[in-house]
Amino acid sequence: MGAGVPHGHPETRCWRLDDGGRQTLVLAATGDRLPQVVYWGAPLPGDEDLTTLHAAHGIDVTGGMLDENPDLSLCPEAVRSFPGQPGLILRAGDGMQLLPKFCFEAEEGDGQHLILTYGDVDNGLTLTIRFAADPDTRIITATSRLDSDRPVHLHWLAAPVLPAPQHSGEMIDVSGRWCGEFQLNRTAWSPGLRYRENRTGRTGHEHFPGLIIPCTGCTNTGGEAYGFHYGWSGGHKMIAEELPDGRRQVQFGHAARMEMKPATRYETAPLYITYSATGLNGCAVAFQRHLRDRIVSWPRPGKPRPVHYNCWEAVYFDHSLPVLKDIATRAAALGAERFVLDDGWFGQRDDDTRSLSDWKVDARKYPEGLDPLIDYVHGLGMSFGIWFEPEMINPDSDIHRAHPDWALGGEDQTLGRQQKALNMALPGVRDFIYDRMAAILSGHEIDYIKWDHNRVLPMPDADQTRGSYALIDRLRRAFPLVEIESCASGGGRIDFGILHRTQRVWLSDSNDALERLRIQHDAALFLPMAVTGSHVGPRRCHTSGRSLDISFRAWVAAQRHMGFEMDPRELDPREAHVLQQVTAWWKDNRIWMEGADILRLDSADPAVLAEQQMTREGDRFVVFAGKAATSAQISPRPLRLTALDPQARYRITVLNRADSPALSRGTPILKTETIEVSGAWLMHHGLVLPWNFPETIWVIEGERL
Ligand code: GLA
Repeated sequence: MGAGVPHGHPETRCWRLDDGGRQTLVLAATGDRLPQVVYWGAPLPGDEDLTTLHAAHGIDVTGGMLDENPDLSLCPEAVRSFPGQPGLILRAGDGMQLLPKFCFEAEEGDGQHLILTYGDVDNGLTLTIRFAADPDTRIITATSRLDSDRPVHLHWLAAPVLPAPQHSGEMIDVSGRWCGEFQLNRTAWSPGLRYRENRTGRTGHEHFPGLIIPCTGCTNTGGEAYGFHYGWSGGHKMIAEELPDGRRQVQFGHAARMEMKPATRYETAPLYITYSATGLNGCAVAFQRHLRDRIVSWPRPGKPRPVHYNCWEAVYFDHSLPVLKDIATRAAALGAERFVLDDGWFGQRDDDTRSLSDWKVDARKYPEGLDPLIDYVHGLGMSFGIWFEPEMINPDSDIHRAHPDWALGGEDQTLGRQQKALNMALPGVRDFIYDRMAAILSGHEIDYIKWDHNRVLPMPDADQTRGSYALIDRLRRAFPLVEIESCASGGGRIDFGILHRTQRVWLSDSNDALERLRIQHDAALFLPMAVTGSHVGPRRCHTSGRSLDISFRAWVAAQRHMGFEMDPRELDPREAHVLQQVTAWWKDNRIWMEGADILRLDSADPAVLAEQQMTREGDRFVVFAGKAATSAQISPRPLRLTALDPQARYRITVLNRADSPALSRGTPILKTETIEVSGAWLMHHGLVLPWNFPETIWVIEGERL
């Protein structure tokens, strides 16, 4: 049944959303009350009686309980005796607490979209809830908006509140740190709540706003799971609560008390949700596709992602034109297609203590401006990108000396990397940054910005994030062909809100391929290859001190949007050769890989982190099996593939079998030959790979015959 048609029992209002085959969401309300999600999961038959579902979903009442269990509605209301966290907390303009109670006003929808309007006449409030189910990506997008007929103070507004499954023992949310992004936390469900709140004012390494709830027995490749992502860069709050009666709720929204002034309208960021019956990978694929195909806008759709060269770890602040030209020449010979000039080109930026905001080319380093370098780079066939950190200011800068009031926060605030944030809510500040950036972009042929954000805010304030978004949006309107990479000391600003405005994320400042292998693996729960930057770092990693072979470094970068960041002058002939070869392979394969799904494999050996990147049609794939540590057992355990056609036959080749060390003395067939086997065998027995050292990776190509 489509939305908008009252169904069956006159006292029940029901709606259902279907994404065209993978999930159904059923909402039902008693009379005029706010609806609850009474079903979310595998698709239901088209003729399911929703009124019966509503009645059958209700739980019993016994001693010590109210006479009816309060609704776990899309915005649980304290005034209706809801025993857990409410979905809305606000005060009137005079500071008095309001206790909203919403009643039905209007509905609109078509089975894949639904808009519900509820009003609280006594308090002059309107709550508008929107759902949109995408039949292609299988993501449901949900938002809540509150309108008030007079200014009110908002403490907390949850995006539409969802129930969490009962047949789940744990939840997975995401934390991390600098050089260690996307760490998955598993927390057991128990009575009470898990409350995560990011009050730093940016998405943060520590707080990627995502949650996956695996049902009992779920793995990467099988079982049921529910995925959530809140698309906002200003810091989120998440509540995962088990109520005293055993029901569970999930709430996402902006961090609480982010709104400084009373207002008449508040809206959550989009909450992206999905149900999977194909393990964690079902959630991952939905998020990857939705991000790549719906959220990111590509300036030149269809143009392959270029191989990057970024000079940061080669020269840091020490810019010299002859050296940069030499590096650019070598990078181009290795296969780079875009040269990104990192920090150090402006003001008097000889280290990280000064000059942020002084966005004028440093005439000491570039006496004839940037053009000699840009022209040289173009002459090598590469495009040119440049680093900015627009929202930031050093106290030691001309702009801070002229406008100390532009900085956000008190004079005695603790600095971060010797810098303050600018107050992005001030239109004058945004105009200033816009003018300086526009002058650089219009005066030069630049097609790429690495947009950094290297410190947390002195206090959370939603206006700051809205100001950043407005600035990016204005620049994008003026320079629609310029791509932007979101960086924040690596992966400190990664979310669908910023990716609505950018095309790439700098996943981590760690160019250590071993660490990167793990970070990429876990980030793939949400991020596709096309947006995930990954660079080949120096032989001895600058952030870990670890030395890794070029083959491992190159292949790990080739798993995502590939680039180089080492000083190419350090490469010996073998290293340069390997890097060239892997880069050439990446270029040959990038077009299909950019549209592929990243499927995490369930490795029987915890030392092996493996993934299968496969076209949507399933006719082609590549498996990366990274050996992150020495295995406990002596011989490699078979690696089972996933999502293949059991009846089909596949041609399988270990692409880099020449990397096999002398200590591999046996004759597993994949060491020397291509094999043709069924999907059933690949999924149920698995590949028997040759023995190898830790900190190496096997790259296996597959093709359906
Ligand atoms: C941050 C980024 C780095 C680099 C430096 C420049 O740390 O994450 O990649 O751009 O800033 O200062």
